[in-house]
Amino acid sequence: MKYSFCGLSGLQLPQLSLGLWHNFGFNDDYEEAKKMVHFAFEKGITHFDLANNYGPPPGSAETNFGKIMKEGLASHRDEMIVSSKAGYLMWEGPYGNGSSRKNLMASLNQSLKRTGLEYFDIFYSHRYDGVTPIEETMQALVDIVRQGKALYIGISNYPPAEARQAMTYLRKQQVPCLIFQGKYSMLYRNPEEELFDVVKKEGAGFIGFSPLAQGILSDKYLNGIPAGSRAANPDGFLKKEQITEEVVSTVKQLNLIAEKRNQSLAQMALAWALRKEVVTSLIVGTRSMQQLQENISTLNNLSFSDNELKQIDLILDGEV
Ligand SMILES: NC(=O)c1ccc[n+]([C@@H]2O[C@H](COP(=O)([O-])OP(=O)(O)OC[C@H]3O[C@@H](n4cnc5c(N)ncnc54)[C@H](OP(=O)(O)O)[C@@H]3O)[C@@H](O)[C@H]2O)c1
Repeated sequence: MKYSFCGLSGLQLPQLSLGLWHNFGFNDDYEEAKKMVHFAFEKGITHFDLANNYGPPPGSAETNFGKIMKEGLASHRDEMIVSSKAGYLMWEGPYGNGSSRKNLMASLNQSLKRTGLEYFDIFYSHRYDGVTPIEETMQALVDIVRQGKALYIGISNYPPAEARQAMTYLRKQQVPCLIFQGKYSMLYRNPEEELFDVVKKEGAGFIGFSPLAQGILSDKYLNGIPAGSRAANPDGFLKKEQITEEVVSTVKQLNLIAEKRNQSLAQMALAWALRKEVVTSLIVGTRSMQQLQENISTLNNLSFSDNELKQIDLILDGEV
């Protein structure tokens, strides 16, 4: 596994991180989840990404992760980076959602309790809620670091202008933003427009989530929606309606390029998202050991010819 410094910080992150949004809650196979966490760690994936609401039910991914730690990984705590977040709906009433100081502080304490950890390595504001003053949210993050409950802080899903404002505030408080977590894949290139520049200028790192567009960037939906897939799962965030004919046609063309590279489409999609230097790491969310192994093998072939990149651009722009 290769590790890269996260922005201008001294923290190195692995090229691939493991996310526990789906597949790690009480409704999932605990033994498989435990095997995946152990295998990931053995292969050098030192970074595990959580949030208060991951499950389902919400909170259960953190509880399961805490159990996995206690059952065999606790002695490796200093070799691991564990992240969590607050900002989306977690409990009823005015304080269980959004980016207020009240929500962040209360949620962080709950997350520490569920995981049994003394601190998170990275704690994020999960989203810009459009209402809370950015200064309030950022000061809460600064105080969280000063209280020793997180070592670093990050922001996720902030629009570029608000991200810049947040990072400027944090820098002035001498608790710089370590990392921006944003969606990035062949099917969602939005960060290339402005966000990557903001992140680079501010000296933060970027970690991409849903690099396989929740599984669309694999060969599984080429001939319908298979049982067991995220789109077939009523608890899944990916909806059947998102697997449109147009998307499948794009994926089929990308799959042909992947075949020529002797890679699966999932592997090519990960390699493609890692091609930008600003991308410190990608968070993969796997359902099985087989998927995790396949995704880690991506790292054996990360290079692209100019011609391959051009072909991929043409396909993504709908010009083929
Ligand atoms: N900050 C945020 O707001 C935010 C939002 C979303 C996610 N995240 C983070 O990012 C992580 C990853 O997101 P994601 O789960 O959407 O990532 P993803 O890697 O795009 O999708 C993961 C899904 O793709 C399928 N898959 C994975 N590897 C595969 C392979 N080799 N072949 C075929 N299918 C494969 C599996 O779906 P099937 O179940 O269909 O097999 C898996 O559950 C999350 O766990 C979370 O930590 C953060």
